[in-house]
Amino acid sequence: MKAQPHSPLIESYHLLSYDTIDSTNEEARRLAEGGGSHGAVIWAKRQTAGRGRMGREWISAEGNLYVSVLLRPEMPLALCSQLSFVAAVAAAETVEGIVPQPKDIACKWPNDILFKGKKLAGILLESFEVPDAETGPKRWLCVGVGINIDSAPEHVMYPATCLREAGVELISAKIVLSRFIHHFVHLYDTWCESGFKPVQKAWLKRAYHLGEPIDVVIGDEEISGVFDTVDAEGQLLVKQKDGKSVAVNAGDVFFKVNDAACG
Ligand code: BTN
Repeated sequence: MKAQPHSPLIESYHLLSYDTIDSTNEEARRLAEGGGSHGAVIWAKRQTAGRGRMGREWISAEGNLYVSVLLRPEMPLALCSQLSFVAAVAAAETVEGIVPQPKDIACKWPNDILFKGKKLAGILLESFEVPDAETGPKRWLCVGVGINIDSAPEHVMYPATCLREAGVELISAKIVLSRFIHHFVHLYDTWCESGFKPVQKAWLKRAYHLGEPIDVVIGDEEISGVFDTVDAEGQLLVKQKDGKSVAVNAGDVFFKVNDAACG
């Protein structure tokens, strides 16, 4: 089923910039609650309460990119999880255009961007319902993206890196932002017109350790097998010894070869 756009993003996006904010995702939620608009791009130079997946902190020192895009696609919520892949591919394309060795960029499920196996960028997709007395509740989505430009956090669950460590001399967050938005609006409109397939293909082309042994930790449960693919819902398919695949929609991925956990 194809996604029905609220309106093409390329025509509707507009930038809201902040020096310091708690979290650009939180600001997106406040905007949505205040009437908001599809395509609002919230950019901050630093965050005081940046958040990552699974309730983790996203350390947000000045010099890196912190941006959220507020969206209101009119489609089943189940399909909206595909948006994190739209953002992941856009972030991958962005950094591939910047680093001297673009072949070392990879996408790690669910939506991390790696450089030489270390985390360079992360995506946090959130959805919220805003009551509306006239039309009934409205569903909003916010895709938050953090790209490490100048610094990478230490002592985190998954080894991290930044563009500077990847050999990029001097690039401002504003330039990385404009390149990311360029890729994101294009991919979002492709997704609206053509569905998930082209996005899925672009993500799988960059998939980290596809076809290799994998452990997925989901709370207290652990699933081991081979990283088979990512399906049309964006779920990770893990092939078991008996040949059957298990679909996973949330968790931390560990690769057996030369790797740590996904933060
Ligand atoms: C992750 O890998 O855990 C996701 C990290 C997402 C961080 C970004 S930075 C901009 C936006 N605002 C937030 O508070 N989080 C996201």
